Amino acid sequence: VVIILLQSIEWKGHSLCLLNQTLLPNRIEYIECHNYQRVVQAIKRLEVRGAPAIGAAAAFGLVLGAREFDNSQAFWAGIEKVANELRQTRPTAVNLFWAIERMMSVIDKSNKDSNLIDLVLGLEKEAIAIASEDLDINYKISQYGAQLFNEPVSILTHCNAGALATVGFGTALGVVRQAFSEGKITRVYADETRPLLQGSRLTAWELMQEKIPVTLITDNMAGWVMKNNMVQAVIVGADRITLNGDVANKIGTYSVAVLAKEHNIPFYVAAPVSTFDFIMKSGLDIPIEERLADEVTHFSGIAIAPEGVDSFNPAFDVTPNSLVSAIITEYGVLKKPYQETIISLQQKIKGVL
Ligand code: MRU
Repeated sequence: VVIILLQSIEWKGHSLCLLNQTLLPNRIEYIECHNYQRVVQAIKRLEVRGAPAIGAAAAFGLVLGAREFDNSQAFWAGIEKVANELRQTRPTAVNLFWAIERMMSVIDKSNKDSNLIDLVLGLEKEAIAIASEDLDINYKISQYGAQLFNEPVSILTHCNAGALATVGFGTALGVVRQAFSEGKITRVYADETRPLLQGSRLTAWELMQEKIPVTLITDNMAGWVMKNNMVQAVIVGADRITLNGDVANKIGTYSVAVLAKEHNIPFYVAAPVSTFDFIMKSGLDIPIEERLADEVTHFSGIAIAPEGVDSFNPAFDVTPNSLVSAIITEYGVLKKPYQETIISLQQKIKGVL
């Protein structure tokens, strides 16, 4: 059997190629972004999605934007506008802002008299580094995460924190991949993840590609699955983790965490350091993206609610730190009290840089 692992994002040198995740699993189509505006659109439409993938896509978007200037004067006058448009695509995942800041700091450090070609090359080099580091980081997260499991378990996940949501391998699903290869995971229960079905369309599909046993459930079945001892752990990704260990992730994650607590099941979060917001004190301050009502009232373009009904469509929720059993990063596994372990993590990173 040949396993074709599809790449969510690929830099072609002249353009950014994105796997259109809105069409999966029915169609495998790529979007070729030749300008930053197309990258902006792809992030807004969720054609590329998942916190680390969005960050990497925005970094390459900035490279494409930088290439549109004719001279360095125009570059300095306009690059901030490009960065801003990319920042305004989605508000919750901090990786987006982290990647853009990292890119902008490259040019901030450069000489104002640098020629345009050097500036653009510097940006391209940084974007490529962001992308390739993401893959290495995910391998590390996965190694650390797999060590949390001693005996074979069934695990539940929500949304998609897999290869598709990153540059490759995945965070939460990276841990699943690694633990499965070590014989420590027998089955994955994938929440379908309403309203946009990242769990069924992406996670179930990704796991099936690799022959990892997966059982798809609707979101409202998670409690019953736990009650019946069908899962022994939960693992999810994150879009933003604040200093106190509160975790923003796909809407529905909070409910899963509450259920896990009730059933005495560990609730693990896997995320790279780029998902930590070391400035924000608590999850109460995290901006939660609200998306259009038609994602709730319609299903594949068909109305599933009375016309004109009021609806609410937050794309993310925040799980309080008290419900999080551990946070798996590329630097190791963080445990409570997060106020302390996250500060130590920050100091460790500063020491490395
Ligand atoms: O709206 P999405 O699909 O971008 O939301 C994605 C998630 O919530 C993921 O769990 C998160 O970004 C982590 S991806 C490694």
